[in-house]
Amino acid sequence: MKAGPKAKTDDSPLPWQPRSTGAARFRSFCDRFVRVPKGSNAKAKLRLRDWQLELISSIEDADPMPRTAGWMLPRGSGKSTLVAAYGLYRFFADGEGSVVVVVAVDERQAGIVFNIARRMIELDEDLSARVQVFKEKLYWPATDSYFHCLPASPASLEGLDYTLAILDEAGVASREAYEVLTLAQGKRPKSTLVAIGTPGPDPNDQVLVDLRTAAADHPEDKSLVWREFSASGFEDHPVDCEHCWSLANPALDDFLHRDALVALLPPKTREATFRRARLCQFVTELDGAFLPAGVWADLGTGEPVPDGADVVLAFDGSFSDDTTALLVGTVSTVPHFDKVKVWEKPSGDDTYRVPVAEVEDEIRNACRRWNVVEIVADPFRWTRTLQALEAESLPICEFPHSPARLTAATGDLYSAALNGRLSHSGDPTLAAHVGAAVIVEDARGIRLSKASRSRKAKKVDLAACLVMAHSRATWRATHRKKKKVRSFK
Ligand SMILES: Nc1ncnc2c1ncn2[C@@H]1O[C@H](COP(=O)(O)OP(=O)(O)OP(=O)(O)O)[C@@H](O)[C@H]1O
Ligand SMILES: [Mg+2]
Repeated sequence: MKAGPKAKTDDSPLPWQPRSTGAARFRSFCDRFVRVPKGSNAKAKLRLRDWQLELISSIEDADPMPRTAGWMLPRGSGKSTLVAAYGLYRFFADGEGSVVVVVAVDERQAGIVFNIARRMIELDEDLSARVQVFKEKLYWPATDSYFHCLPASPASLEGLDYTLAILDEAGVASREAYEVLTLAQGKRPKSTLVAIGTPGPDPNDQVLVDLRTAAADHPEDKSLVWREFSASGFEDHPVDCEHCWSLANPALDDFLHRDALVALLPPKTREATFRRARLCQFVTELDGAFLPAGVWADLGTGEPVPDGADVVLAFDGSFSDDTTALLVGTVSTVPHFDKVKVWEKPSGDDTYRVPVAEVEDEIRNACRRWNVVEIVADPFRWTRTLQALEAESLPICEFPHSPARLTAATGDLYSAALNGRLSHSGDPTLAAHVGAAVIVEDARGIRLSKASRSRKAKKVDLAACLVMAHSRATWRATHRKKKKVRSFK
């Protein structure tokens, strides 16, 4: 079919009377009219995967229907194809005067989704008979509906009035373009902005990151939905970890080919690039990480600390003002660790205070579950709790965070981890905290720290507990007290 207006278009309605609603109606549209335009399954019916339908459902089945959807997926997961099909659906199914716009960093990028949509039309007789195809727009005269392809320059977007806007490549799209698109909303009872993409190289300037943060900070905000497929939280796993690959790539071994990913592994691409583009992990650089990649994951056994075991408990809340962590480790020269609990400030809640009574109760519970020989904590901020628990005859032991002591304890933990002389449960929060910890070194020695002082920086409190618990658990194992420690009932 040649581009350009056709002399005559078929004015009859689409031969399609779905009884379904929501995402199921979209599926019915794809089953009836949409073919895969290229690549794997080319020219076959676009068979939507369950995870693709779930994404659409996050808009179509939500009540109220959100105004903005942010979807983060790795490269090659069919993002452009899915939003092209969804754009067509809204173009054909939203009724009179619907306007779909596709926007991306530049015209070429916006053209990707537009060209997929155009090709989908060409591959179906019923659709192509009804639509006029132009270089940068589709027009359906019978309903006066448009499907535009626009560059992301704010000037070209001013004054828009759309039913659906698709911002492709939202990991690199400009903030201005996104803002103009959001501001254009509100003129119609139903309008949706879908921002879809893979994390871009600059984590500080990304529409995608802004949406992700906004969704996390305001879970009550029904006007925004966020969906991601990522191995976020597993940054300490090796770059070729199969678990991370399948976690982040729903299309893997389906229309995303594993050998292509293998071929891209570092050193062919930089590790940070691979992690960002293929695992949707927000990594800038890995220098300064406490443990080399993969070391922590290899120490995981999947086992908890057995009830009744001789253990050390460690708790810490001094690294970030709003997080408190409680960790358990067996008294052994090769100790085994697990998270007991982490209390974290819900994002956006500025009135949050650490629930001290709850922390104390959790410590008491732990003392019933295991034979706790020592409860170790940095006395900073916890003096009263330590005194109260000590008054109940709990075995409190202060671990003052003096530079000399921390340097020794951090160094011991490091060499134990590297030499396989400790193990852990595989708890993901524990892994995330250890993965986020970096070494800082100054004249006073080395210690663990967060990567940045920002309140949004990833938490490392369990890693701080680990330094203390490891130090005390191994010390206890080699200096057993003669007197049996009284257990707390
Ligand atoms: N069910 C399906 N959904 C989406 N794409 C499919 C499906 N089956 C096969 N494909 C093919 O898989 C490929 C997906 O490529 P697409 O450009 O949509 O992915 P993308 O995530 O936008 O990639 P990029 O990260 O490069 O922008 C296309 O060639 C498409 O035709
Ligand atoms: Mg794409």
